[in-house]
Amino acid sequence: MPKRNEMQIQFLSQSVNEAFARVAISAFITQLDPTVEELYDIKMAVSEAVTNAIIHGYEDKEDGIVAIKCGYQDKVIDITIIDEGKGIKSVEEAMQPLYTTSLEEERAGLGFTVMQEMMDEVEVCSHPGLGTTVKMKKSLEK
Ligand SMILES: Nc1ncnc2c1ncn2[C@@H]1O[C@H](COP(=O)(O)OP(=O)(O)O)[C@@H](O)[C@H]1O
Ligand SMILES: [Mg+2]
Repeated sequence: MPKRNEMQIQFLSQSVNEAFARVAISAFITQLDPTVEELYDIKMAVSEAVTNAIIHGYEDKEDGIVAIKCGYQDKVIDITIIDEGKGIKSVEEAMQPLYTTSLEEERAGLGFTVMQEMMDEVEVCSHPGLGTTVKMKKSLEK
């Protein structure tokens, strides 16, 4: 069985870092030789989770810490996005398609739906006042 590999990064909750997160995750995943579509899906899912951490978790406060942990073994990838922001009162409700607490029209309430569509598994754990952890898994084609 191939060895497990892992990486971790942390950055401040500034929107400019959304692009950084996408590039960093791609660079790590590229070692597995993903298809263009698999890479696209993973970048999209990470992007949604990181955006949520920045705009909802830290409410645009720019000095929060967002951490991404990513590992893989045997073409199965796990990605965890962690913030220590405001947290979510009801995860079940937040994950409903079109549910949003944002007043801006561009936020359509589909972030979690996109994550679920792009990845095989999405698990959200959150505590109000403590933060949110989003764990996702995806198996790449062999
Ligand atoms: N990391 C987070 N911290 C706090 N609240 C969050 C976080 N991620 C999601 N949420 C809550 O879940 C809701 C739904 O998220 P999402 O499906 O991405 O839609 P949108 O971001 O468009 O509102 C958000 O409006 C927000 O209330
Ligand atoms: Mg969102």
